Amino acid sequence: MIRTESLDPDKIREGLSTRHIGSQVVVFDSTSSTNDRAAEYGRNPDNHGLALFAEQQEAGRGRAGHRWLSPPGAGILCSIVLIDSPLRSELLSLTAAVALAEAIGGGARIKWPNDVLLNGKKVSGILLDAPVCDTHRIHCLGIGINCHQGRDDFPESLRDSATSLDIETGLSVDRVMLARRLLASIDRWLATAARNEGAVVQAWRQSSLQLAHRVSLCYNGEHFTGNCIGVDPERGLILHLDRGGVRMFDAAHSSIVKE
Ligand code: BTN
Repeated sequence: MIRTESLDPDKIREGLSTRHIGSQVVVFDSTSSTNDRAAEYGRNPDNHGLALFAEQQEAGRGRAGHRWLSPPGAGILCSIVLIDSPLRSELLSLTAAVALAEAIGGGARIKWPNDVLLNGKKVSGILLDAPVCDTHRIHCLGIGINCHQGRDDFPESLRDSATSLDIETGLSVDRVMLARRLLASIDRWLATAARNEGAVVQAWRQSSLQLAHRVSLCYNGEHFTGNCIGVDPERGLILHLDRGGVRMFDAAHSSIVKE
């Protein structure tokens, strides 16, 4: 693994001062999980848009109870605090995926609900938490991007399905610039989603790996297969089922499985 730069909050914030997302940036050398930190900061409603980064997580979490592993300094490990978002979770998740794919660029594709893949391998993932709070609504938008990992940095079981930006580009990605691009992209797409959710769906359709393909997914423990015909910003992935009929599957209860 090549480590070229450390995450400097002032450098990340350069040019972002007029935006909501990333108006405050905190970088931890090490923390349990940035999503857990974001849940704590979210108790203060003034912390909307706060972006928390870590060089290392001791208990990084992924979707469906998985762990998110990243060697120190190798990735972007970020959580953004959102207070009283006007977007429901499904649209928030979709919007975050679109923003993330845009920030990564280079032909990044979205594997529903919100994995981002390069050349068919996962380079990034999103974990959206909504911790309970009596006074206001909190969302913790957690994003992990593999940057400087080499193939050997991934556990053997993931080597065929996971990748990093350095592996895919043959270059050493500048994490500070990527972090800044990520926050700007999220800021822009959240604003777009609030006034025109159709624009988010349209962007998703352009980057989706599933659209017009056969999809098998597990929904609340039940298995469904069909052709993906779109995504609904409120109700999730739309499948034309092999067994007949059209059905929607929300991200919180579904995971795509191999046929
Ligand atoms: C997934 O693909 O399963 C989601 C991975 C999300 C990982 C990020 S890293 C920053 C934030 N803190 C966490 O503990 N998880 C998210």
